[in-house]
Amino acid sequence: MKPKHVAIIMDGNGRWALKRGLKRSAGHLEGSKILEHLAMHAIDAGIEVLSVYAFSTDNFKRSAEEVNYLMDLFIKMFKTKFAKLNKKGIKVVFSGRKINLRSDVIEAMEYIEDNTKQNTAGILNICFNYGGQEEIVDASLKIHEDIVNGKIKEDDVTKELFSKYLYQDLPPIDLLIRTGGELRVSNFMLYQMSYTEFYFTNTLFPDFSKSEFNKALFIYENRDRRFGNVK
Ligand code: IPE
Ligand code: IPE
Ligand code: MG
Repeated sequence: MKPKHVAIIMDGNGRWALKRGLKRSAGHLEGSKILEHLAMHAIDAGIEVLSVYAFSTDNFKRSAEEVNYLMDLFIKMFKTKFAKLNKKGIKVVFSGRKINLRSDVIEAMEYIEDNTKQNTAGILNICFNYGGQEEIVDASLKIHEDIVNGKIKEDDVTKELFSKYLYQDLPPIDLLIRTGGELRVSNFMLYQMSYTEFYFTNTLFPDFSKSEFNKALFIYENRDRRFGNVK
């Protein structure tokens, strides 16, 4: 069966650039073009939700130069690509903490979310200033607040309800792709990955083509998902 929700850890931009004697920023720019193509392609392939890891809370540890470049790139990308994604019918949502982000970045996010919220062709969930453990902590605090306010009762808290308190209420991740050769999840969507199928590739993200994406889908479709059951 086709995956409903695919997530991508878009890793390897820096190495892609350094291999070519370029600055790391050149890899981020190339990666942003690939993301646009993949988002359009995922919709055509009938995927309902595509989640992408664009900037982690821990990426703030990088140099101010790189962090600023990534923030500027984010704004630039949306100014130039927004119309195309919107025309395709893609609803864009964001996951992550808004604190610590520049006001122009937050404004761009709000503009995009507001102006694509009626779209129904598919969802692009952009994880920006995102951390999986942070998301679980933030959801727990919101649940606690609603219990204190009397909106919900302690007995109402099930794993299904918990998932509604995450940054976005999305189906569980069926397939996770990580480019760039590392075999780890780097604090990405931990709650949503309980039964996710993993696909790791050495391909660096700026080289990750539609045909490689299709290959990951093909491999996924041949996996045997048992969810703890027996056949
Ligand atoms: C992923 O590429 C993009 C972000 C983390 C923003 P990297 O920048 O981590 O590239 P490598 O892993 O250093 O090659
Ligand atoms: C994960 O990549 C974050 C993004 C792709 C945005 P990193 O390059 O930050 O992860 P580590 O440091 O290799 O674990
Ligand atoms: Mg990396």
